Amino acid sequence: MAASIHPRVLAMQFLGAIAFISGVLRSGASDPPLTLDYYASSCPTVFDVIHKEMECAVLSDPRNAAFVVRLHFHDCFVQGCDGSVLLDDTVTLQGEKTASPNINSLDGFDIIDKIKNKVESDCPGIVSCADILTIAARDAVILVGGPYWDVPVGRKDSRTASYDLANTNIPTANEGLTSIISKFLSLGLSVTDTVALSGAHTIGMARCENYRARIYGDYESTSGGSPSSEARLSKLKSTCPAAGGGEDNIAPMDYETPNVFDNSYYHLLLNGEGLLNSDQELYSSVLAIQTKKIAVQYAHDTAAFFQQFSESMVKMGNITNSDSFVNGEVRKNCRFINT
Ligand code: HEM
Repeated sequence: MAASIHPRVLAMQFLGAIAFISGVLRSGASDPPLTLDYYASSCPTVFDVIHKEMECAVLSDPRNAAFVVRLHFHDCFVQGCDGSVLLDDTVTLQGEKTASPNINSLDGFDIIDKIKNKVESDCPGIVSCADILTIAARDAVILVGGPYWDVPVGRKDSRTASYDLANTNIPTANEGLTSIISKFLSLGLSVTDTVALSGAHTIGMARCENYRARIYGDYESTSGGSPSSEARLSKLKSTCPAAGGGEDNIAPMDYETPNVFDNSYYHLLLNGEGLLNSDQELYSSVLAIQTKKIAVQYAHDTAAFFQQFSESMVKMGNITNSDSFVNGEVRKNCRFINT
């Protein structure tokens, strides 16, 4: 008699295999290690300069914190954290900005340009755009109430970008949980990292085209139809019509405290009110055995979330591009490779 295998077991076996393969493929061992004091003598002011600029940016609009954190994530998931996401299209280089997860969606490039100008005037040709973006993302989190962590530095900027990898590596809102987790695993990030890093959605906004399927899908059933969640849902539906239109209308992913980095994102998941399908799946999918446990823990324990988020951000920031250590550079302008 043929033994049937439960889909959950199959999914776990599949993810286990990806984790094994990614561990084997990701050596990176020969890359020079990133260090905390890389700029200690060559550019001692760099951390202060970046912090001050981010402070101005976040004071003028707290959403700038969300833009920069997301830019760093989209940088690291494509060729490693090498500033490739910052490159503009030119006649000889196709950048990542027009890839489908990025177009009409990524923002904050002007903030990085402004920081780069200041850093260049203090220490010309020393600090990579990839490092500036990594440090700025950490400062963004602090400035909206999140945790501090030390940022290892010493990255180089790529002289290439990958439009194709931007389309394939970056997870999307309506992708299944297993597929999203396998994208993290293939870059050396664990299931725990996936749940903790998703907590970045405690700040920032999403556009209608990314949450339409969710609000006309299982939002009502996961949220249990309480008067307050029904009111919330009808408000979302009024900004994002089922028939189409209003693609760029935005809604906060954490409607409780959209501008504060806290653990209320996980409260929303427990209430079944995550805005994106990819958010709610972490808690409500039939495959969400491990991820659900972790989400519950973070909903009850801010310190545990902050600790893990910090560790996972360092881990994500350490996805390096081996090629850029050999062929990379410190760009003069983050939008263009040096001539
Ligand atoms: C787990 C898989 C993830 C998926 C499927 C996902 C998807 C998305 C989508 C669809 C949006 C809205 C974009 C738009 O409508 O224009 C968004 C926004 C955002 N994401 Fe993610 N994301 C994921 C993980 C992450 C991670 C790991 C981080 C950072 C560590 C992050 C940080 C952000 C931030 C801060 C925003 C708000 C940006 C803004 O206000 O414009 N996301 N994400």
